Amino acid sequence: MSNDKKNNDLGLAELLRERGVTRRGFLKFCAATASMMALPQTMVPAIAAALEQAPRPSVIWLSFQECTGCTESITRSHLPTLENLIFNAISLDYHHTLQVASGEAAELAREQAMEKFHGQYLVAIDGSIPLKDGGVYSTIAGISNIDMVKEVVAGAAAVIAVGSCSSFGGLPNAAPNPTGAVSIAKLMESGQIETKPLINVPGCPPIPVVITGVVAHYLTFGRIPELDNLRRPKSFYGDTIHDRCYRRTFYDRGLFAETFDDEGARKGWCLYKLGCKGPTTYNACATTKWNQGTSFPIQSGHGCIGCSEPKFWDAGGFYEALSVPTSPVGKIAATAAVAGAVVGGAAAWQSVSKRDEARHNHQKASVEDLEK
Ligand code: SF4
Ligand code: F3S
Repeated sequence: MSNDKKNNDLGLAELLRERGVTRRGFLKFCAATASMMALPQTMVPAIAAALEQAPRPSVIWLSFQECTGCTESITRSHLPTLENLIFNAISLDYHHTLQVASGEAAELAREQAMEKFHGQYLVAIDGSIPLKDGGVYSTIAGISNIDMVKEVVAGAAAVIAVGSCSSFGGLPNAAPNPTGAVSIAKLMESGQIETKPLINVPGCPPIPVVITGVVAHYLTFGRIPELDNLRRPKSFYGDTIHDRCYRRTFYDRGLFAETFDDEGARKGWCLYKLGCKGPTTYNACATTKWNQGTSFPIQSGHGCIGCSEPKFWDAGGFYEALSVPTSPVGKIAATAAVAGAVVGGAAAWQSVSKRDEARHNHQKASVEDLEK
């Protein structure tokens, strides 16, 4: 983050040059961005031209009821990364955790950015907003979260809900929801804050390159990316973890680990029976992965817990299977590959129905949640 006047007045291209980013490095970044956003590589020159000319938008980052995991996610990276490139590319004018200023000086920075860039700044929000008992459960500088979000969103061009808490309520919203925690979408849809273009980037935490990919898309095209019915960018949340999982071949053959230390686990078999929620979870982990493409939960031997889906804390045990395959593993192993394929197919069919059912329930839950 920079509050430095000179840096704030530099354009993106000048700033990148000043920070030692070569033309080659910049083009590699543009190619990776195109690939992340599922755009053809022929778009790379257009992305490069747009990004070079892009003004550096002011970003106000608000953290409410959260664990700081989302900020950790965006900052836990090694140089040089897409994350750093993008965060050099914006003017992060206010962020409780990262800014040097504190107290009145910090709030002054927020107020100045809101005034100077009225109608143009982006708001990134992690954490849910407590409404119970007048919102007393979380305040910043004596201002309740609901009052602050109302004021900041009113002057924004667009809002990015970073993480499952601001996207869907997350952990604070889990039953019995003691603080009356709600998402940004709920506040907009119930008219408690102004409605602005809203992008949900769920995950607990979300993948850093997904956050920066959304910002890159906004910088490149001057508008928010195409979203699904839960306001998630389709380019990152268009497939389930299961759709892209490298263990899928074992799933399709009916080969499942039964415990975390059995032979199946050691051989890398499917974690479905150990509670993997990959079939009902929409996120880019299986392709983008974490820590510069090093790994993701399933590759580390643990099932997906569905952290980017609404209500995932209340959706049953993390180690309970979504549904039980129709034949026991021993029988599958003893029969020919054909039988395995049949069981795999049956499980896949069950999974698809379960996925559709789960999506229906999620959508129903979020509609019901908004109606409360
Ligand atoms: Fe991968 Fe989980 Fe699907 Fe198995 S159930 S293939 S581990 S996503
Ligand atoms: Fe979350 Fe599942 Fe990815 S638990 S981090 S969405 S693999």
